[in-house]
Amino acid sequence: MKTAVLGSGGWGTALALVLLDNGHETTLWSYTEEKNKILKEKRESPMLKGVALPEKLALTADLDCVRDCELVVLATPSFAVRETAAKLKDRLKPGTLLVSASKGIERGTSLRLSEVIEEETGGTCPVVVLSGPSHAEEVGRGIPTGVVAAGPDEETARRVQAAFMSRRFRVYTTDDRIGTEICAALKNVIALCAGCLDGMGAGDNTKALLMTRGMAEIARLSVALGARRETITGLAGVGDLIVTCCSMHSRNRRCGILIGRGVPIPEAIEQVGAVVEGCYAAANARTLAAKAGVEMPIAQVAYEVLYEGRDVTTVVTDLMGRAGRSEYEESWA
Ligand SMILES: NC(=O)c1ccc[n+]([C@@H]2O[C@H](COP(=O)([O-])OP(=O)(O)OC[C@H]3O[C@@H](n4cnc5c(N)ncnc54)[C@H](O)[C@@H]3O)[C@@H](O)[C@H]2O)c1
Repeated sequence: MKTAVLGSGGWGTALALVLLDNGHETTLWSYTEEKNKILKEKRESPMLKGVALPEKLALTADLDCVRDCELVVLATPSFAVRETAAKLKDRLKPGTLLVSASKGIERGTSLRLSEVIEEETGGTCPVVVLSGPSHAEEVGRGIPTGVVAAGPDEETARRVQAAFMSRRFRVYTTDDRIGTEICAALKNVIALCAGCLDGMGAGDNTKALLMTRGMAEIARLSVALGARRETITGLAGVGDLIVTCCSMHSRNRRCGILIGRGVPIPEAIEQVGAVVEGCYAAANARTLAAKAGVEMPIAQVAYEVLYEGRDVTTVVTDLMGRAGRSEYEESWA
């Protein structure tokens, strides 16, 4: 089928290669003509070093590339999803499959990105969320990876599954867009915190504690917002949390490591050199938690460190000093 991928960062490029490898006619769209020119000249993305971009992958900076496409992937940073989707409205044919591959919650509105895309494209095209433990650097090299396609219904999710699925890229379907998107956005906050622990030289026990209790608070929020519990233990939940908190490919973790070592936050973000979604997600987590009336102590301290100048070295002691409680919300109630 004819496909386009919008956003030629690491993730957009890796997904374009998956589609191309599956025999689809694929165009990769860059936000600027300058970026498009570099990709055309080098036939390699600076975010995916050593991965050649085949000649049959069309490269453009013209959004008209989405006209006549059957499937369009949005893989820009989360802050650019609304403006990109808005430009699509008059170019898409009704019924085009839209795949939301960015991870985040919209700042200001706290909307999930599939909701933002639906709002801007007028609801004439179904939106499927693609998420899971999937570093672009590994997908680009064809390393076996598994993700979920979360659709508004099973049939639509299956169409996206069929487009992406290969021997190297396994896709499971689900109908839980809420859980998939909340987990995808909030694991970046926990990854930032995990990086901070690594940067401060904390122990493995402490990191396991953070990841497990981090997942517990993501679960609390997701379920309060209408997610299925199964999503939490699936690829988009625990799967993505593990990879993001443990891998050096994770820019959120890398940013956290720098913060944990005492590098000032703006400098840490600058040094990472790519979008650090966890910084935006920490602010959104706070808003969503307040709206849903759930407690998210880890996301809260992440916000205080990122936005209120709190000293990161004081955080572990404070979290450890919280009142004792049951591990499960519902027990002893
Ligand atoms: N890198 C990964 O492994 C990975 C995996 C899964 C999901 N994601 C998600 O995909 C999204 C993109 O991540 P990435 O790693 O490709 O980022 P990146 O930093 O590699 O690239 C971002 C790209 O967005 C472009 N851009 C900047 N401003 C823009 C705008 N206003 N409109 C359109 N495009 C703009 C930049 O030119 C750049 O090419 C993020 O939400 C991220 O969380 C990334």
